[in-house]
Amino acid sequence: MNASRNPLCARLGIELPVVLAPLGGESASAALVAAVSNAGGLGILGAAYMTPARMDEVLAEIRSLTDKPFGVNLFCPQEWKCDAAREAAFVAQLSVYHAELGMAAPQIPERFEEDFESQFDTVLKAAPAVFTFTFGDLGRDRIAALQQRGTQVWGTATQVREAVHLASLGVDGIVAQGAEAGAHRGTFLGSRDEGLVGTIALVPQVVDAVKVPVVAAGGIADARGVGAVQALGASAAAAGTVFLLADECPISSAYREALQQGQDHETVMTRAFSGRWARGLDNRFMREFAAAELPDFPIPNALTRPLRQAAGKAGRAEFLSLWAGQAVALSKRAPAAEIVKNLAAGWRDE
Ligand SMILES: Cc1cc2nc3c(=O)[nH]c(=O)nc-3n(C[C@H](O)[C@H](O)[C@H](O)COP(=O)(O)O)c2cc1C
Repeated sequence: MNASRNPLCARLGIELPVVLAPLGGESASAALVAAVSNAGGLGILGAAYMTPARMDEVLAEIRSLTDKPFGVNLFCPQEWKCDAAREAAFVAQLSVYHAELGMAAPQIPERFEEDFESQFDTVLKAAPAVFTFTFGDLGRDRIAALQQRGTQVWGTATQVREAVHLASLGVDGIVAQGAEAGAHRGTFLGSRDEGLVGTIALVPQVVDAVKVPVVAAGGIADARGVGAVQALGASAAAAGTVFLLADECPISSAYREALQQGQDHETVMTRAFSGRWARGLDNRFMREFAAAELPDFPIPNALTRPLRQAAGKAGRAEFLSLWAGQAVALSKRAPAAEIVKNLAAGWRDE
């Protein structure tokens, strides 16, 4: 394709309007981000769960692997409160699973999340080509500070009113995350259900509502999905789930096998692992915690981490957060560069 005719590609200096959507947690990998950028797309690092020191290391590793543009993603700080009774009930429930895996009883960690301001300072210093955020509103001042360092800022919206709000703060692009998407919903206005707008409905309405480029995400897993979002007016296509099966993605074999068997009807919305709504392959943990009164995000996320890590090592997929989007069955094991090429084949010359 002729990248110079796509304004988003031209502005970023990338060849293909294909984005590796940020994948936080165990799937965050310098090798994957660099492979996507080296293949002509834009790799974005999901850094939300990293300490600032770890972010520095991973960013240096990405830079050692590519001189192409790449992005970094963080979660916007959330308001949450401790509720000792809920925490205690959750820990008591979790301890049954710990015992089943032969683990010591769950402990309350020193902190439930990383310090956002330090993470943000790390991004400011690193000045990546793109910074993306989800779960809310980064604030005008932070957006402007990034832009002054030459970083383009994209905010995640799951409905038109969120996109309009983010655009009013001066973002350079909107990631329109449809309901099909794997893992956490970016929704920050209204209820969970209000934020479950499908990609085919969301993208053209966001395109009509804002003046900045729109990056479509949610259910895009092959050239057909990319062609579809181009027709809907998107400036680029972002994919997450399909890259989980990339050779460079360091997920556990239990997670990989579950993804390889996953079907479209098997992903469901859950709060079980983290306290925040997310889409993943249904499993025992989700079912058994479906009715639980959970502490606020990010408390359950921190409390379930040791169990998830042990389950990954033990090959026990029933205790893993098997984040996956509705197009999971279109994903196939391949090098990231091949996945980028397959996706980009759907973008027609502009
Ligand atoms: C395993 C996994 C982890 C994710 N982590 C993040 C994250 O840290 N930050 C974020 O903004 N989005 C995250 N997402 C959402 C993706 O960026 C993107 O919106 C989604 O994957 C697109 O839909 P798809 O999975 O159908 O391709 C994650 C998705 C997956 C599957």
